[in-house]
Amino acid sequence: MNQKETPLFDALIEYGKKQIYSFHVPGHKDGFTFPERGEALFHEILKIDATEVHGLDDLYDPTDVILSAQELLIDLYKTKKSYFLVNGTTVGNLVMVLSACRPHDKVLVQRNSHKSIFNALKMARVNPVFIAPESGRSGIPVGISRETVRDALEQHPDAKALILTYPNYYGMAKKDYEEIIRYAKEKGLLVLVDEAHGAHFIMGSPVPKSTLSMGADIVVQSAHKTLPAMTMGSYLHILSQRIDIEKVEEYLERLQTSSPSYPIMASLDLARAHLASIDREKLQSILKDIDAFKLGIMEKGFDCVEEDLADQDPFKVILRADGQGFHLQEALFSAGLYPEMADRDHVLLTLPIGGRFPVKEILPVFEKVFSHFNPNRLAEGVPYDLQSQPMTTPVISYEASERLEKELIPLQQAEGRIAAKMVIPYPPGVPLLLDGERITDDHLDHMKALLDAGARFHGLNGDHSLWVYKMNRTVM
Ligand SMILES: Cc1ncc(COP(=O)(O)O)c(C=O)c1O
Repeated sequence: MNQKETPLFDALIEYGKKQIYSFHVPGHKDGFTFPERGEALFHEILKIDATEVHGLDDLYDPTDVILSAQELLIDLYKTKKSYFLVNGTTVGNLVMVLSACRPHDKVLVQRNSHKSIFNALKMARVNPVFIAPESGRSGIPVGISRETVRDALEQHPDAKALILTYPNYYGMAKKDYEEIIRYAKEKGLLVLVDEAHGAHFIMGSPVPKSTLSMGADIVVQSAHKTLPAMTMGSYLHILSQRIDIEKVEEYLERLQTSSPSYPIMASLDLARAHLASIDREKLQSILKDIDAFKLGIMEKGFDCVEEDLADQDPFKVILRADGQGFHLQEALFSAGLYPEMADRDHVLLTLPIGGRFPVKEILPVFEKVFSHFNPNRLAEGVPYDLQSQPMTTPVISYEASERLEKELIPLQQAEGRIAAKMVIPYPPGVPLLLDGERITDDHLDHMKALLDAGARFHGLNGDHSLWVYKMNRTVM
């Protein structure tokens, strides 16, 4: 197929040219009705912010330009079926879990998954077994090991599915995932992958490999995270016969809007064409800029984290900032540079895959910011050791938890209680505390350390109270 083609984008441009006046939704009437102060900025985009009118096909029953655009996606990613998502990998994860798992199925789930996976587990009413990732030298949870998966399967041979996240938020692609996937499939498990940060992982070395080519059954990717798609644009890919396509389509229609955004879908079409346009030669030239940037950063005395356990996405830079991650991020904000996120010890930068990257102009700004910091060279991180509990299950089932009342209590009184709402440092959106998990001293110490370092949380109120289940202590 001709990957230069962009059928959906082209149809929208035609629509914009042809329409004299709109007598349908949206109410901005292709920009004719719009608040004056936003008009200049929104003007061009409103022209293509159409709805499912003649010639623009239907996301949930595609027969025309959306079908062609999705066929190009299938061709590029070499899948059985692929879909555009207009509600991010969040909806993709919900659809993936709900369509592949049945209520009460036992599923093995990577403990450092995104909150959307945990929400999906609860909605699907499955019985999860959480398996902990290994942390590397940096203290960052890199991913699970094959030994952990083997142990989990020995203890839970009745597990039906394995839910993985690959790469992690920092772009670390743990080396043993190919073997883990092969092993899980040998044992008859379905393999579901949240590959939110790996939509570009089909580019070839030095970009790590995608789980699409490792035998995963279903994979979700945020095209808006690393590819040039608009926010909320994601892809869902089906790779095997073992996934029920009817069910996937049923959940896509149930969980997504009935008015999908055409600008988002057109950007997904363009993002796919952009990725396809990067051949080896172009990749080398893009990586030259990236390397110059990284070298420039390191020359200023800052370490970029590399992990032995994983291949690293070259388009992510992890600045080492022991104990000062949030402060360094603030300083970069003040200088007009917006990092992807920070944790206590690091600042993460997501770099562009092609396009304009004015390295020479940007490096002096970093230099200025760095001059206020004491770049600590690889002091040992203080990891929150998820491996201390390699395998856990919720104390109460999701079904039982829905019948229980909840109460808000102060953090200091929470030890031993059972969390009724996830507590999530955001970003990265990986819960520190899960719904149905018993709260330990370890959780509380880590939460306090993060609060002291300046982290933001979802699920923890401003007065540092959190939700727990009202339960008779004898039951607990
Ligand atoms: C690993 C992971 N999965 C899923 C998501 C949700 O993706 P989206 O923003 O596309 O809904 C995120 C968002 O940060 C994520 O980091």
